Amino acid sequence: MKEFDDLKLIYDERLVTGDELRGRPHAARMTLEQLLPLLISPDSGKSLVKLDGHLTDGDNDYPVVEGLPVLYPAPVAEALLSGGVPLVYHEDAFQQYFLLNQIKQRGEINAAPSNLHYQRHLYRMSEFLQECRGTVLDVGCDDIEVSASLFPDNCQYVGLDPFSTKRSQFRIIGCGEFLPLHDDSIDNVVLNTSLDHILDFHKAIEEAHRVLKPGKFLWLCTLIWLKNAALQHDSVHFHHFRNYEIEGAFQEFDFKEVIRKEYSHKDETHRYGLYLCAQKTKG
Ligand SMILES: C[S@@+](CC[C@H](N)C(=O)[O-])C[C@H]1O[C@@H](n2cnc3c(N)ncnc32)[C@H](O)[C@@H]1O
Repeated sequence: MKEFDDLKLIYDERLVTGDELRGRPHAARMTLEQLLPLLISPDSGKSLVKLDGHLTDGDNDYPVVEGLPVLYPAPVAEALLSGGVPLVYHEDAFQQYFLLNQIKQRGEINAAPSNLHYQRHLYRMSEFLQECRGTVLDVGCDDIEVSASLFPDNCQYVGLDPFSTKRSQFRIIGCGEFLPLHDDSIDNVVLNTSLDHILDFHKAIEEAHRVLKPGKFLWLCTLIWLKNAALQHDSVHFHHFRNYEIEGAFQEFDFKEVIRKEYSHKDETHRYGLYLCAQKTKG
């Protein structure tokens, strides 16, 4: 097992654009009908069925807005769908949690497609995911046109993201901390530069572990900070991870391997990109 400190940090200038990735054979996207047997309520954990255009577990209803299943937990769903959690909810822990999410989400979340560092990341990520097989849940997927094209063509892909409600691409509108999927139901969970956007990242890793089938894989790409990790200068992320935070969060996984550790900028030595694959115990 290659652990966190075993790999040398490298710098690699190879890159690929989103357009090139889209032009290659890549993962097929799942439809709501294909996905439905895997879905559960984020509130009760019960299976969902489609009824009169919405999803229901019998007690709670979840809307399908412009074809997209909205699987926020019920106590915040209405507020999130109608423009956000109002500040008056700040004394309720649950509402407060989502309010903090919204605040962080106001910033510039993703790099421009023309950004060379971003294209190098796309190259590394598409290489990293070459061994991925079967169903894929991409937590914090953002633009599915690019995200799905990172996976090989023998994968069946679905994205999940809480915040991109206006885009028409099919995905689950939901949160990494409350995955609306059955236990042991999916072959791969991917967190591609999204874990540092999730306030309770431990819960997100636990959820990923829960929904993975025994023996299947979590693929993580995140920045690891070596110094200058002050969060007060960062308007979009909740975390500037140190390696021990990620190591600690992955303790439930049977096996983990650091596939790449790489600086994204030549002159940037205070942080690096970690590409980690972790396997759930075979059971
Ligand atoms: C830097 S973007 C990464 C997007 C995509 N994976 C990529 O590599 O292009 C981070 C994503 O995390 C999403 N996000 C924020 N909070 C989240 C949460 N609680 N659960 C899941 N995703 C979240 C954001 O909406 C955003 O799309």
